[in-house]
Amino acid sequence: MRMRGWASLAGAVGLTLVMGLASVGGAQNTTTPAPAKEPAAPAGFVGMGTCAQCHEEVVNAFKSTPHMSSAQGCEGCHGPGQAHAENAGDKTKIKVFTELSAVDSSAVCMDCHNKGNQKHWIGSSHNSRQIACTQCHDPHPKGAVQPALLKQPQMKLCTSCHLQKKAQLMRPGHMPLREGKLECTSCHNPHGTPNDRMLLQTSVNQNCYSCHAEKRGPFLFEHAPVRENCLNCHDAHGTVNEKMLKVKAPLLCQQCHQTSSHPGPAYPAQSRYAFNQGCLHCHPSIHGSVHPSGNRFFR
Ligand code: HEC
Ligand code: HEC
Ligand code: HEC
Ligand code: HEC
Ligand code: HEC
Ligand code: HEC
Ligand code: HEC
Ligand code: HEC
Ligand code: HEC
Ligand code: HEC
Repeated sequence: MRMRGWASLAGAVGLTLVMGLASVGGAQNTTTPAPAKEPAAPAGFVGMGTCAQCHEEVVNAFKSTPHMSSAQGCEGCHGPGQAHAENAGDKTKIKVFTELSAVDSSAVCMDCHNKGNQKHWIGSSHNSRQIACTQCHDPHPKGAVQPALLKQPQMKLCTSCHLQKKAQLMRPGHMPLREGKLECTSCHNPHGTPNDRMLLQTSVNQNCYSCHAEKRGPFLFEHAPVRENCLNCHDAHGTVNEKMLKVKAPLLCQQCHQTSSHPGPAYPAQSRYAFNQGCLHCHPSIHGSVHPSGNRFFR
């Protein structure tokens, strides 16, 4: 895409400019224009100065965005603009993002942003559900330029589609996202990762350990479900119970501990085993114990 663009530029403006741009565009320092791969390709690049003749406001606003440092200027995204400019602004002769499919639109951005945090975009959940870069980013912000050119502050942006997560964050048991101490991107990369659920870490537990390091252990006595998956008992985005527990004790525990001695039956409320969600009164070190006599997580 980009290479084809530079090649047609070479044809249009000749050697001097090409030599100047060679340092930017890569190995394009040849005087013979490459054969056009697409017959209908627009003629050539004209530079931001020409765009400014008719789109002064857009150009002025653009000057305070990070893309000002991109050598290709407007045409890095909108493609060569000569035909558009010479035909009194014919819209069919320039790339209009609002008329592109999500995949085509993102492909323009991926021309340059195919590394770092964006390298797993292709095949990511957002990409495969036809979400475009431009649904989250705005290269032409109308007001102040937001960090990372986001259309809205991150929490608003993500919860504008993820309504269930928005609801969960409002529940009493939650991590401090709405208090501003964490963001969705503390745990996820919206551009995709090699991991499930676009998590930054390779598993749920690795994700939790990255901040709750003390839960990693090592423990003398491990509690199997904790090692297996923190989400056996917690929900990462929030629940109606304290400490983001999916279910309150004693029921939480009794989902798994039904057959052994005292936690067997569902206890009447007066039972000392169930009193005040009692399991944890006697088994407080539920994530694992480092005490020599902690085999029942008493300490
Ligand atoms: C001669 C004046 C002129 C020049 C020069 C010009 N444009 Fe335009 N452009 C227009 C006009 C007029 C429209 C509106 C066309 C319409 O609405 O049908 C337009 C529309 C556009 C649109 C589509 C906007 C929309 O409605 O979605 C884009 C994108 C655009 N121009 C980009 C550029 C870029 C990039 C350059 C520089 C390479 C450029 N233009 C140079 C006159 C110009
Ligand atoms: C980083 C890619 C990128 C660059 C660089 C860029 N644009 Fe755009 N432009 C877009 C996208 C994406 C949209 C569609 C925005 C939307 O979804 O509303 C757009 C929309 C437009 C529009 C129509 C909507 C509007 O806001 O009026 C015009 C005109 C336009 N661009 C002109 C320009 C000009 C002139 C420049 C250079 C000063 C430029 N663009 C640079 C990506 C870019
Ligand atoms: C011609 C190459 C090019 C294209 C195409 C391009 N960008 Fe960029 N982009 C850059 C450069 C260069 C920067 C500024 C340097 C940097 O931060 O990497 C930048 C910066 C950004 C930033 C801000 C980074 C920050 O740290 O604040 C975002 C967000 C971004 N681009 C999104 C997009 C989106 C969305 C598109 C497609 C609509 C797009 N870019 C198309 C080259 C490009
Ligand atoms: C679902 C929303 C969403 C989509 C879709 C999205 N981004 Fe982002 N992007 C973000 C958020 C949120 C950040 C800020 C990350 C942070 O603050 O850590 C960001 C940051 C960036 C940055 C700057 C810093 C960084 O993390 O590299 C670039 C560049 C960027 N995005 C490019 C793109 C491109 C290119 C696409 C399409 C291929 C895209 N984004 C699609 C939400 C999105
Ligand atoms: C424009 C709507 C939209 C926005 C904005 C959006 N998402 Fe999504 N997101 C989706 C869709 C659609 C899916 C796919 C849902 C599915 O497959 O069930 C998805 C899936 C996800 C998934 C699940 C991935 C998986 O593999 O199951 C995560 C995590 C996610 N988004 C995080 C984010 C974050 C973080 C943000 C903000 C930076 C964000 N999303 C913004 C629409 C959006
Ligand atoms: C503290 C870490 C953390 C934070 C912060 C976080 N998530 Fe998640 N998220 C997870 C984990 C862990 C999973 C995996 C759940 C699973 O495997 O069932 C997940 C799964 C998801 C999923 C896909 C599965 C589902 O439950 O629907 C979506 C969508 C999602 N998160 C969106 C968000 C959004 C939006 C935000 C910000 C409001 C956010 N997450 C903040 C850890 C986090
Ligand atoms: C990016 C850092 C981060 C990650 C990752 C993280 N947490 Fe947290 N978590 C926090 C912070 C900060 C608090 C608030 C601590 C405080 O207030 O003392 C918290 C609080 C909690 C609480 C107590 C909530 C309450 O209501 O008091 C639980 C339970 C919890 N996290 C579980 C998890 C689980 C399970 C995971 C993995 C899915 C996880 N955390 C991943 C940062 C993180
Ligand atoms: C068997 C169920 C269970 C599993 C699995 C579990 N937890 Fe917990 N967790 C609890 C219970 C019950 C509490 C409430 C303890 C209390 O109120 O004293 C709790 C509380 C917490 C707290 C807040 C209080 C504290 O101890 O700091 C954090 C943080 C936490 N868990 C993180 C994790 C992490 C990280 C994992 C995965 C490594 C995990 N939990 C797995 C049952 C579980
Ligand atoms: C997801 C299933 C699950 C949940 C929920 C769960 N446990 Fe466990 N628990 C296990 C497994 C599996 C073992 C290991 C049993 C073994 O080694 O024989 C275990 C072991 C134990 C042990 C040690 C038993 C022994 O024989 O050494 C105690 C005590 C215990 N759990 C208490 C609790 C309490 C209290 C809760 C609620 C806060 C709870 N568990 C929630 C699955 C669970
Ligand atoms: C009054 C204190 C107390 C309460 C409350 C309590 N336990 Fe225990 N639990 C013990 C003692 C003491 C043992 C050790 C019994 C033994 O070694 O024979 C034990 C042993 C266990 C064991 C190991 C297997 C077994 O049956 O010997 C499990 C599992 C267990 N408790 C789960 C639970 C659950 C689930 C709850 C809540 C419904 C709970 N406990 C409430 C004191 C308590």
